Amino acid sequence: MIKPYNSKQDSKKLQIKDMFNDISSRYDQINKIMTLNMDKNWRKVVYDLSMQDSPNKIIDIATGTGDIALYFANDNVEVIGVDNASMMLDIANKKITEELNIQFQLEDAENMSFEDNTFDVATVGFGVRNFEDLNKGLREIKRVLKPGKKLIILETAVPSFFIFRFGYFLYTKLIVPILGKMIAKNQQAYQYLSTSAEHFPHGKEFQMILEKSGFENIKIKYLSLGVVNIYTAIKPE
Ligand SMILES: C[S@@+](CC[C@H](N)C(=O)[O-])C[C@H]1O[C@@H](n2cnc3c(N)ncnc32)[C@H](O)[C@@H]1O
Repeated sequence: MIKPYNSKQDSKKLQIKDMFNDISSRYDQINKIMTLNMDKNWRKVVYDLSMQDSPNKIIDIATGTGDIALYFANDNVEVIGVDNASMMLDIANKKITEELNIQFQLEDAENMSFEDNTFDVATVGFGVRNFEDLNKGLREIKRVLKPGKKLIILETAVPSFFIFRFGYFLYTKLIVPILGKMIAKNQQAYQYLSTSAEHFPHGKEFQMILEKSGFENIKIKYLSLGVVNIYTAIKPE
């Protein structure tokens, strides 16, 4: 299992929580720089896909500093953003005013407190790669989604075309950890980002994992030369 701090014995879940709490105040800034500001567009695609089915109740899982959830701020929908790193949620909470229909809540995505069949859409941006038990997390998301409703996952991928692949590895293995050290003051966190992204299943392989977790009608959108994918999957009726 790939963890942020290999020398430590703590569980992946605890290490991930500590890591995100540690980088929380610099997370948005470094995201913007590292993705060359493309992260905004990726989240907008997640938003557009979510709104296609006119949902009433949306859950943004592993919401972090809340940027996917905040896309729904001007819509007539109820949005709950959940994360298990409280300091990420502190940043998210600073971005909302009381009038907004968005609520942030401390929850472990692998064991949530919501009832079965609660939400019309579930979104997860760069979250599933960090779950300790991916299958358990996916099962839990399926449990809280209503039958026939959509899960949308935005996640890192590795480009398949060799020139893009070469550029990708150059960037993620050299530049990203340096940026992590300089801006986030946590080189290990950004080394973890590049190693976990390299090894995390993507494309058809991740599609199969979603199928095995009981989702159907799975579609993949390849974005930005294949450095990120968006998966949509339906919970069967
Ligand atoms: C890379 S950040 C993504 C944040 C946000 N979704 C975005 O698009 O920027 C990953 C987030 O997943 C959260 N996370 C990881 N494992 C989790 C779990 N088991 N339960 C809840 N949140 C989790 C981390 O705390 C972190 O905030």
